[in-house]
Amino acid sequence: MIGKSIFLADFIKEDSVTNQKELTSKPLVDQSLQMKAAVCSHYGPPEVVKIQQTDMPLPGEDEILVMVIAADLNAADKRVRRLEISGFLRPLMRMVLGFNKPRRPILGTAFSGIVIRKGKKVNFFHPGDEVFGVTGLKFGAHAEYLVIKESGCVVTKPKHCSFEEAAALPFGGQTASYFLGKLGIKKRVNPKVLIIGSTGAVGTAAVQICKSYEINPTVVCSSQGLDLMKKMGVEQIICYDQTDYTKISEKFDLIFDAFGNSNKKACLKLLNTGGAYRSVGGLEISSDSKEQLYYLKTLVDQGKFKPVIDRFFSLDEIVEAHHYLDSGRKKGTIIIRIKP
Ligand SMILES: NC(=O)c1ccc[n+]([C@@H]2O[C@H](COP(=O)([O-])OP(=O)(O)OC[C@H]3O[C@@H](n4cnc5c(N)ncnc54)[C@H](OP(=O)(O)O)[C@@H]3O)[C@@H](O)[C@H]2O)c1
Repeated sequence: MIGKSIFLADFIKEDSVTNQKELTSKPLVDQSLQMKAAVCSHYGPPEVVKIQQTDMPLPGEDEILVMVIAADLNAADKRVRRLEISGFLRPLMRMVLGFNKPRRPILGTAFSGIVIRKGKKVNFFHPGDEVFGVTGLKFGAHAEYLVIKESGCVVTKPKHCSFEEAAALPFGGQTASYFLGKLGIKKRVNPKVLIIGSTGAVGTAAVQICKSYEINPTVVCSSQGLDLMKKMGVEQIICYDQTDYTKISEKFDLIFDAFGNSNKKACLKLLNTGGAYRSVGGLEISSDSKEQLYYLKTLVDQGKFKPVIDRFFSLDEIVEAHHYLDSGRKKGTIIIRIKP
């Protein structure tokens, strides 16, 4: 604790282009280097997450300090909060994440915000830069401030995109682009694509990435997702609560299960010769990278990608947000507005 008000003016350079007047007039923190954060005190139901004052992180030489404007709440947060894994992997997960509670108790991975301060070895980013990115296993985005390495998964925000949309980009976007990449979508000529579970963050991103390649995918979703899929311009929609998609006669070149509960054997029967199947539900883990963020940013700049946001919650409503995530019914992404 430092008994002094720290002002953004201390951090923002004079040549900052971003809303400088407003930024310089606001105290960064009152009387101390403390911040508000959603802290996951134990593994368990949404109520284990509590809003607390906690120490604000300070950037190392190769790191930037980001004032977080928005963050997403996603399956990774749920998995950690609930220690959601069974069998022999559970003890392994405790070793990685913490035995009785998360070692990194502030959840949240995908974020957007404004660079407030930089370490002396940071060259690319400057105070005032608007950025978005992913903290990965370090989590920490459900807080007013976070630090991330300049070389980490962080890039400048697309210009024509709100902070909320930028925070909604990485989780679904990176996962979908990773798995569609592994399916070899770029190399196929006019492939017939089936996306199972098309209404979550990963599914809605997969639909848009397919469309960016001028592929009109067939999708599997519930009747509640029908309108969203129609709005996104999808023409072939199979409602899993009305039709068993594994029994249809149509065949596909690529099948991507973006929800993760499909029966692999049944799906393989839906493939044309030389076709490929991939699911988010297996042991394969998608990777995060700066390159993927640049790729998503380009899609946004070209008007080919607009992340689907279901609901917004304030940081104070974090428990309610976790309950909604646990319902399993969200469409697209849940956004936590850290700075309302
Ligand atoms: N392997 C990896 O590296 C990786 C990376 C990221 C995410 N994931 C996994 O990807 C999955 C998807 O995440 P997400 O955030 O996009 O969505 P999610 O929150 O897990 O799922 C919600 C969506 O799935 C739909 N849904 C529910 N039951 C379904 C069913 N039986 N068939 C098809 N759709 C169904 C829901 O709509 P309706 O209820 O209306 O159907 C809702 O739109 C998660 O399980 C996550 O763990 C894996």
